[in-house]
Amino acid sequence: MYEQVSHSLLNDILSELDPEIQGEGLRYFYTRLGANFYPIHSLFTILYGKRDDFRSHIQHLVETMARQYVQRPEYLRASDLEREKDHNWFLSQEWVGMALYADGFARDLPDLIQRVNYFPELGVNMVHLMPMMQCPQGASDGGYAISDFRQIDSRFGEMEDVQELAGELRKRNILLTLDVVVNHTSNEHQWAKLAQAGDSCYQDYYYIFDNREIPDMFEVSMPEIFPETAPGNFTWNEAMGKWVMTVFNSYQWDLNYSNPAVFIEMLDIILYWANQGTDILRLDAVAFLWKKIGSICQNEREAHLLLQLMKDCCQVTAPGVLFIAEAIVAPVEIIKYFGEDAIHAKECEIAYNATFMALLWDAVATKNARLLTQGVKSLPDKLDRATWLNYLRCHDDIGLGFDDNDIRAVEYDPHAHRQFLIDYYTGNYDNSPARGLPFGYNDKTGDTRISGSLASLAGLESALEDEDPERIDVAIKTILLLHGMIMAFGGIPLLYYGDAIGTLNDRTYLGDPAKANDSRWAHRPRMDWEKAALRNTPGTIEYRLFTAIKKMIAVRKEVAAFADFNNRELLDVGNPHLFVFSRFEVLQPTNRVLVVANFDSAPQHLNLEDISRTAYFRYGSVRDLYTGERPAMFKEELVIPPYQFYWLTDYPLAL
Ligand code: GLC
Repeated sequence: MYEQVSHSLLNDILSELDPEIQGEGLRYFYTRLGANFYPIHSLFTILYGKRDDFRSHIQHLVETMARQYVQRPEYLRASDLEREKDHNWFLSQEWVGMALYADGFARDLPDLIQRVNYFPELGVNMVHLMPMMQCPQGASDGGYAISDFRQIDSRFGEMEDVQELAGELRKRNILLTLDVVVNHTSNEHQWAKLAQAGDSCYQDYYYIFDNREIPDMFEVSMPEIFPETAPGNFTWNEAMGKWVMTVFNSYQWDLNYSNPAVFIEMLDIILYWANQGTDILRLDAVAFLWKKIGSICQNEREAHLLLQLMKDCCQVTAPGVLFIAEAIVAPVEIIKYFGEDAIHAKECEIAYNATFMALLWDAVATKNARLLTQGVKSLPDKLDRATWLNYLRCHDDIGLGFDDNDIRAVEYDPHAHRQFLIDYYTGNYDNSPARGLPFGYNDKTGDTRISGSLASLAGLESALEDEDPERIDVAIKTILLLHGMIMAFGGIPLLYYGDAIGTLNDRTYLGDPAKANDSRWAHRPRMDWEKAALRNTPGTIEYRLFTAIKKMIAVRKEVAAFADFNNRELLDVGNPHLFVFSRFEVLQPTNRVLVVANFDSAPQHLNLEDISRTAYFRYGSVRDLYTGERPAMFKEELVIPPYQFYWLTDYPLAL
């Protein structure tokens, strides 16, 4: 948008730019800057407009974008242009992701480079590597406490290894996703060290207080994130004789985004990683970016403005790069991280579908889809050009962040129901096959979250212990059923390393003092490559899981109706054990896939004639896309075996 105030300011800024970041080759930079400068200026003004040094900061902001553009390699600039033309590229059903630790999946980066063919073998073409930047030697919250955003920790390798890996992935058309931990740094970061040495400029990079007066005001309304291991939100720093805001662990110092210098530093880091060949940046803990006394200090309006500003600036320098919002917050809040007021995604193009994840675990425990159906019904529609990451497990715990109204709507009591789920998954419920562990117990609120690997939560571990083939079978079916859901729901399925071979909880973390009090390490294993080799041996659990997931991925990629264009209809079929939705092709809406999942231990029936009336689903020649076969039917009644799913279609698909 052309607007005089911002445009004349932009002209002034450009005339003062350093000659080395002016001139030839910046054509696309300038057209994008012209397009985005009005929102950039507006957002920067709302956030920082009252400051006397506003003008010098906005000059610095434009210089930062320009410098990083000058450094952006030619092949990435070319990819930006391609993605601009094909701007819906990431909504395609062809993308399937996997999250992993480079030093868990492999030994380190060079070893990971040797193992990249595992991804195409399974069909994975987007890889999220957990943080690998320099971090403290002891506890580092799994790398989420960063001491140097531009260095790779020597435990993983070197910067050259990242570039080599990015090249190897690119050759195979695999997208690279890396984290940028935007909310905090480690207490060993240079900025924190300078702050501790008394530098007031760097003290202003964090929230630092002389006494408890303001911290105490914050504490009234701020929840605790790690109540067992890091109670409270402030840590006393002896060197400064001051209190530091540390929402997560005591060694993770929250950055002060009310200081524009912090915003510009972090933008520079985002663009730096964009220039290393990263396709997608996962912005960690984005809900926490803005702190306000009297609030829970999450999901504040300014946190959204900061993300919009990051996006607008990133689009100028590296428009092909996408953002993932890691915001594990209430269902109505998560959706806002796509950008609330915009028609198209204007904050992060991708967000973790934490709601769907937790609802799926609810369905497994209750053996019915009541809350799942209700919760999905309540999910607001996404913006266009925005997509979910649908996942079952990740490196974090499972929080039961459903909406209480949804729980009540299906006639459970919210507190009692959550308690049931915690008991079910952590071994306090009779006959539960799950082997999860409690995480983050809060003795003030009674809240607990759940750790554990997918296979252990789904009952494989206990079934193996008891050498019970029937229960092993149920666990395998449950794991596949869950994968069948994230592949079909709409969005990018994000697998977790080890899950395709049924990796169980890993208890070795208990022997490491830096990890022992954090049960999330139970599901951050070292990949057992001998076990993984069994994926090629028919009859093994690894083979059954791996081949089935591989096939699901291959089928998913062929089904246009699985692309994510808000093309899903949820169906209430009157049978609480079934979760049913239809997906349709946007360009050919009569091409439909009916997804049916049975979470119960008994077979369930579904009358397809009823469905055909509401969902326009012709069932005459119905076929399951996953098996390629006609499912069991009795007249118009479909029979869904226990813990099984169907991807039914009634139109001919060339598979
Ligand atoms: C994110 C990460 C989590 C970490 C936290 C603090 O939620 O996923 O592992 O503990 O941020 O960095």
